[in-house]
Amino acid sequence: MQEGFVIWFTGLSGSGKTTLAREVERKLRARGMRYVQRLDGDVVRQDLTRDLGFSKEDRDENIHRVTFVAELLSKNGVATTCAFISPYREARETARARGHNFIEVYVECPLATLIERDPKGLYKKALSGEIKGFTGIDDPYEPPKNPEIVVHTDLETVEESTAKVIAFLEQSGLISIENDSIASARVFVAEGE
Ligand code: ADX
Repeated sequence: MQEGFVIWFTGLSGSGKTTLAREVERKLRARGMRYVQRLDGDVVRQDLTRDLGFSKEDRDENIHRVTFVAELLSKNGVATTCAFISPYREARETARARGHNFIEVYVECPLATLIERDPKGLYKKALSGEIKGFTGIDDPYEPPKNPEIVVHTDLETVEESTAKVIAFLEQSGLISIENDSIASARVFVAEGE
């Protein structure tokens, strides 16, 4: 059976968590993994946690419910990716303790870059005071102290950051090693047949 794991992406809004989680998911499926599930703040908050806002209590509850789901999935062989700001260390540590093969990825990007990018226009609203309690502006973010992986999305391409995650999974023995030469050799054999 496929070994389950949780890849937990944490970082500020707009840092690239969703993009990376999607790309990692795509890569895993391309390797033939059948049981892959992404849990994403923007989606989960429209359903499982739609009753919650952004106070500390609500964010903790958001992560608590997601932790429950990630635990069930990972213990049953599902490759689970989680993309949540998850600003509080303690809540992430609980997710770590309950998840099966938990891997924390700190998606790091300077605030100045995020303010400049601002694809959802939320930083502008937070800076003008239209939104209160926005993470990184007037609400806390506690960076991980010992994440398994740190990616710098202002300096790396999506491909590079994704490769770090895939390499870690390979080195941990959670997925089999597949280098490009082996992959292209397979294509060659397949085409020759
Ligand atoms: S978490 O803090 O509870 O982990 P989550 O990742 O689910 O947050 O949701 C974050 C998304 O909600 C952001 O990307 C942004 O689009 C939206 N959002 C709305 N209000 C806030 C806020 N006050 N702080 C941060 N994100 C917010």
